[in-house]
Amino acid sequence: MKKESGDKNVSRYFTCNGVNATHIRFVYSVDDVAQRDLPSYKPTHCHQVYNSDETIFGYRSLSVDIYYNALTMNCLLDIRYLKKVKEDAHTKADNIEKMLSPWLPKGYTKDKKKFVTKMQKQNSKLLGVVRESFRKNIAGRGRCDFKITEIDTNDPDFRDLHQRFQSVIVWYIDAASFIDLSDPKWLIFYLYEYRNREYYPVGFCTIYQFYKHPGKIRARISQFLILPSHQRAGLGTRLLKAVYRTFWERQNIADITVEDPSLGFQRMRDIVDCNLLCELYQFSNLYVLKHTFCRNTAESAENRYKICFQQCRRIYEILNLCYAGNRPKFLTEWCRRVKQRLKWPYERDMRVFKRKNFGFYHKSLLNQRPLYAKPSEVIDKQFKKYLDEIFPIVLKLEKMNGGEVVKYPSVVRRIWTRML
Ligand SMILES: CC(C)(COP(=O)(O)OP(=O)(O)OC[C@H]1O[C@@H](n2cnc3c(N)ncnc32)[C@H](O)[C@@H]1OP(=O)(O)O)[C@@H](O)C(=O)NCCC(=O)NCCS
Repeated sequence: MKKESGDKNVSRYFTCNGVNATHIRFVYSVDDVAQRDLPSYKPTHCHQVYNSDETIFGYRSLSVDIYYNALTMNCLLDIRYLKKVKEDAHTKADNIEKMLSPWLPKGYTKDKKKFVTKMQKQNSKLLGVVRESFRKNIAGRGRCDFKITEIDTNDPDFRDLHQRFQSVIVWYIDAASFIDLSDPKWLIFYLYEYRNREYYPVGFCTIYQFYKHPGKIRARISQFLILPSHQRAGLGTRLLKAVYRTFWERQNIADITVEDPSLGFQRMRDIVDCNLLCELYQFSNLYVLKHTFCRNTAESAENRYKICFQQCRRIYEILNLCYAGNRPKFLTEWCRRVKQRLKWPYERDMRVFKRKNFGFYHKSLLNQRPLYAKPSEVIDKQFKKYLDEIFPIVLKLEKMNGGEVVKYPSVVRRIWTRML
């Protein structure tokens, strides 16, 4: 949007943070629309919707309220502000509705009465084949009923609903994009909550299936969303496990991967996978502490749980750190193994580099790694980031190891630094 104000103070005064200005609400009944204390949620991302630095220019005390009808995902938009910048040839306020409209469900309205009238006429339908039904405690609401369904993407009712439901991802998944439902390679699972004799969609998972040599299919989880109103209640875990179970039964699926997982998703996935794999002998305390990870180890997990190679290796390392407990000997061995893994690409590049100098270098391998940066510095950075990522999981798994896990990352870091 045009933002050509010469006056820096005016610019600052009329610039709002998009995340703070946006309030997302889920409406279950007509009364909810008027309710002042209806829970509202901030988006985690809005750079795709507003300006790339997540700001909105031209308004003071801006509030962008987006009400999603929890049953149909129809939408009400309410934009309010205290003051708007004085527009002239150089200064132009952002057109908020224009920014929002590509990302809101089709047919959204700014008319509260219209939204409410539509709500009174609505009814719900459970779409897809039920794969799982369960009850779960939700904070403040007690035991609630849920169903997970596998969807037929050709169902026109579903296409209609999903077109609206998937619009929510723009607020919660970085670099979100909508999927093309006419492509038959998409598989979709929905999580429904049964409430007030209606089925409310509260989460979904989309999976893309493509060929994996030889003669099999790879399932790649693409989008995974639990509505903010239902997060951190164990529902994502249930949905992920239901997806896994479905694929375990299908002979043609080779493995399950995830496209660009968010930090929260990766943590949830690590916990699920650790709990699954620790049951296998190759991932047990006895085995892991004695052996380094190898292809055979991964195969045992791939065959049983269809967890892909990279993720198997990550889980092996997390369990290894967990099993090492507070014993310096095992913690040192863990650091050595991780160092070996992190060093490998640099050593490979070095070999290629040396080969190049003897005239056997292949062009396609050029510049794959920062050959001239100091590998030990890069590895050190990677290790610290990795440790910060996996440490909370190790703490979560401490019960698995009888409460005997290393409690502070600083202990591991000290061993690592001595080793470098
Ligand atoms: C990530 C997401 C799918 C997790 O679903 P969920 O139902 O909240 O997850 P669960 O309650 O089953 O979480 C299980 C454990 O995973 C970890 N976890 C889940 N979400 C997390 C987050 N955002 N940050 C850190 N850890 C998280 C926690 O350890 C959690 O256990 P705890 O709540 O006892 O601490 C959900 O938060 C979501 O939809 N987020 C926004 C969209 C997104 O990031 N999607 C993934 C794109 S690939």
